[in-house]
Amino acid sequence: MSYMQDEQKKTTDSYKNIAAFIQGKIEAGEWSAGRKLPTQRALAEEFNVNRSTVIHALDILKDKGYIESKSGSGTFVSKHSSSDISRNMMNWNDYSKYSVYPTNHQTVRKINNLELDQSLIQLGKGELHTSLFPRDSFNKSLRTLENTFDNYGYNDGTGDDRFRQAISNYLKKRGISSSPQTILPVSGALQALQLITLGLLQRGSTVYAPHVSYIHSLHMFRTSGMRIKSVPFTSKALDADYLREHLSGNHHSSVLYINPTFHNPTTQTISSNNRKDLVEISNQYKMPIIEDDIFRDLWLDQEPHAPISSLDNSGHTLLIGSFSKTMAPTLRIGWISGPVDVIDKLSDLRMQLDYGTSYLPQLALYDFLESGRYEQHLLELREELRYRRDMLVHLLEENMDDYATWEVPNGGMFIWVLFSEEVNIRRLFTSLVGQGVLINPGFIYSSYPNQYVRLSFASSSVEEMRRGILIMRKVIEQHQMTVLE
Ligand SMILES: Cc1ncc(COP(=O)(O)O)c(C=O)c1O
Repeated sequence: MSYMQDEQKKTTDSYKNIAAFIQGKIEAGEWSAGRKLPTQRALAEEFNVNRSTVIHALDILKDKGYIESKSGSGTFVSKHSSSDISRNMMNWNDYSKYSVYPTNHQTVRKINNLELDQSLIQLGKGELHTSLFPRDSFNKSLRTLENTFDNYGYNDGTGDDRFRQAISNYLKKRGISSSPQTILPVSGALQALQLITLGLLQRGSTVYAPHVSYIHSLHMFRTSGMRIKSVPFTSKALDADYLREHLSGNHHSSVLYINPTFHNPTTQTISSNNRKDLVEISNQYKMPIIEDDIFRDLWLDQEPHAPISSLDNSGHTLLIGSFSKTMAPTLRIGWISGPVDVIDKLSDLRMQLDYGTSYLPQLALYDFLESGRYEQHLLELREELRYRRDMLVHLLEENMDDYATWEVPNGGMFIWVLFSEEVNIRRLFTSLVGQGVLINPGFIYSSYPNQYVRLSFASSSVEEMRRGILIMRKVIEQHQMTVLE
């Protein structure tokens, strides 16, 4: 075969392969009616062909009635197809539209997917770069599982006693006296929030939360039938007067959710006076506080103020911790600390839902904590994060001074950057994705539009951070040019 014939055959085979692949997914029922297909660019990369080959394959499937295009939105598995296969297909996308848990905000879903794309510079992600995981020292703890993993049956949902004791010791070092019976291991802080919502709160309760907050907490409260009341959250304080004013009218079944230390996404830490105020308010109005303190160990300059729960002697506060931010979110391990009655209730709920947290991460973390390797890891991690924070601040000073302002955080993993009005944040987000950089726009953390962007100094390498900020500057400059033209 000549070179030309060879190329022609390759192209023919390629579009047939792509069409067969997509048709196969639809016929096997893996891709339901209404599902969005990967972009032409993604398919071209996946099959290592150019876009015109992909377009040819899609045209064939359109003619056969398997897929349909919606202008501006992309290509979808056909809902109203004339083909027998599509007519008989279960339409899971329509069926699940009104489920108890609706799907995430479109931008949040997009970010969730793009966060897995290794080719992008991750400039907003809320997790440590893989190089910051204490691989060698954690491996030592993993090896101890050979001897410590000795409990194979269903238990009572309260978790492993050794892990509970280790968390009790860990909390003592942070000024909180909690016996092991007041600790419930959970599969991450998000599950802690879910258990508290399902097990303790009532539908229709009011959840007071800072006006910008961790997205998944708000989504979960809302989908569980809670009403969210946004509390003004300014520098170093949640507005206590606002809370008093609203609670004095009606405090029936209210709860306060706060991430008080290196708050996600603003990185603010509330003052010790504000913490005392919140405890006083919660006692006065019998309003529980959910203290989500998962960034506490990431302090960089000085130890943060004592947790709210350590100031509360009347059992109103439930403290949540996790190893997702200091180790790795894939460990899926955290805890709730609260009165024994609460822990009993929530462990019973665990028995109804999933029989409790897996023992393997509990045992590995038990050894990591008790051997002193966790505290050693934190010392090294802080040093590295301090360096990265200073680098990002330096990069922002050099490149973003004309467009944005920010405060230097003294802990956590983010810088909360406020862009001037002339920067269109939605456009910035989309253009940066096109240029291989992912940021977290501030509007996903609040129901109000805003000019903020969450940048992370922990989730990419220093070199990637540098490239990302330079690309961002170029994109903003190009936009300015088009506005001026
Ligand atoms: C404030 C806050 N709470 C909870 C979570 C969820 O943590 P986990 O991975 O432990 O479920 C996150 C994750 O980003 C967070 O930022």
